[in-house]
Amino acid sequence: MADNSSNDLASVIKRRGFIWPSFEMYGGVAGMYDYGPLGCALKNNIIEMWRSIYKGREGFVEIDSETVNPREVFKASGHLDNFADLITYCSKCQAPFRADHLVKDFYDNPDVLTPKQLEEAFVKHNIKCPDCGGDLGPVEEFNLMFRTNIGPGNARVGYMRPETAQGIFVNYANLYRYNRDKLPMGVIQTGRSYRNEIAPRQGMIRMREFNQMEVELFVDPEDKDWVRFPEIENGTLDLIPNTTLELTTMTVKEAVEKKVIANRVLAYFVYTTKQLLLSLGIDEKRLRFREHEMDEMAHYAADCWDAEVLLSYGWTEIVGIADRGNWDLSRHAQFSGQDLTHFKKYDEPRETEVERINPNSKALGPMYKGKAKAISEAISALPPSAIVDGKLKVTVDGEEIELGSEFFEVVKRKEKVSGERVIPHVIEPSHGLDRIFYSILEHAYSYDPEKDYVVLKLAPAVAPIKVGVFPLMEKDGLDTMAKEIYEKVHTSRVEAYYDGSGTIGKRYARMDEVGTPWCITVDYDSLENGTVTIRDRDSTEQKRIPASEVPAIVDALLAGKPFAEL
Ligand code: GLY
Repeated sequence: MADNSSNDLASVIKRRGFIWPSFEMYGGVAGMYDYGPLGCALKNNIIEMWRSIYKGREGFVEIDSETVNPREVFKASGHLDNFADLITYCSKCQAPFRADHLVKDFYDNPDVLTPKQLEEAFVKHNIKCPDCGGDLGPVEEFNLMFRTNIGPGNARVGYMRPETAQGIFVNYANLYRYNRDKLPMGVIQTGRSYRNEIAPRQGMIRMREFNQMEVELFVDPEDKDWVRFPEIENGTLDLIPNTTLELTTMTVKEAVEKKVIANRVLAYFVYTTKQLLLSLGIDEKRLRFREHEMDEMAHYAADCWDAEVLLSYGWTEIVGIADRGNWDLSRHAQFSGQDLTHFKKYDEPRETEVERINPNSKALGPMYKGKAKAISEAISALPPSAIVDGKLKVTVDGEEIELGSEFFEVVKRKEKVSGERVIPHVIEPSHGLDRIFYSILEHAYSYDPEKDYVVLKLAPAVAPIKVGVFPLMEKDGLDTMAKEIYEKVHTSRVEAYYDGSGTIGKRYARMDEVGTPWCITVDYDSLENGTVTIRDRDSTEQKRIPASEVPAIVDALLAGKPFAEL
């Protein structure tokens, strides 16, 4: 890190328009940030790289659902009952604290402690209010969702979504129809989510309003495989399984064979996450995958691997790849009454023993006379699951009739069936976009103390500006030629930046500081022979290239051509 504070990363990204603390003119709000022009461009480039994998390579579909949801959604999803952190207030100054954060120096995994264990830990380790030294009060649950009202009054309670995922689950039936009733089905969504964090103190790592890029993959529970698995099976992963808690490096294939990762589809998307993060510029040596411990898992997860990166904050989760099982669809089916299953067709019809309800005509006839036939047909159409407390309800000619068990019986019989209904399981790679954004910047940051010089070594694909274009002097037609080159590059949708002020060294420094990979300079030779220089940010090497070929050469560099081969 730079010792000159205007050159540390936080100062650079604020000064150069990547990130600004929100509402600073009114004192700011903890855990809230705005993206400036360069930050917005970098963020959009990350989203495009994510889309290119999931929409492009995998062919998933994208939706955009509401951020305010009615209460029912989060009652069903379990967030109303389970999505809480543990809070304690100072009994003297009333400041709120996340109780587990106060004991983090004494426990490896403090977020698994119960309220009672945390209160005992305060006493045992003599932990007091960090602000005023007062005694800490009782530890309680604090639900992290922002509550609101939909419409005037409080007739319809709503919540800001804490994850984009629920918008996909509540649209399952629409998406399944759109996908022509087929699995696997992949759906992606990016957008804002909201968590009313108790005391966010880690910059962009813990934001109250944040951006997610979520992928929900619906699969047959008995077929957790992925057709592209063989393409990546020899790739390696640094893994910390919850069985050993030790870092181990192995191929994806080995991880599945040794049951370190539970199934091939989960393993495929752990590796896909690695591919995405490396292509975004995350340093491979500062990336690992850690499996959640059993008591750490979210309420919906059957298994979960976090992509963790090493930052100045320590190892930090930036993507979670969870197996959510059938939690979400079964809960939404139960709470809404909708059918959220997949019809799994067998290759050949199978003879299966099925349960059916048979009407008892001998009892129905005398009791219901002319209606007995219609009632009998209505009974036959119902599944055994319609029997509640030994009784059946049928509707005939608009009249609801409740029937005791003397009017029907459940029988088993062999039938040829062509398939069965299953509730799909969900594999979810969930990306914290702001955390990825910040991690890219930390891993790209380099500072030379002797030269007092910052370079952001951003991957060209995410760099907000791809090419700086300079005239050596803003006169003698050099500026006209440089502006023409700038226009050509910029209008081909590659972000370029024209700069004619200050020394060339200062202009290179300005571009290096925001991670621009290449700079073009128009000099007096350019007017003579139509060539310009192109400079590489990381090697600072310069070459002469024909001015007319600048857009094509920039395209080739962006597609991965090494600068040395120009
Ligand atoms: N959908 C997972 C999460 O938001 O953490």
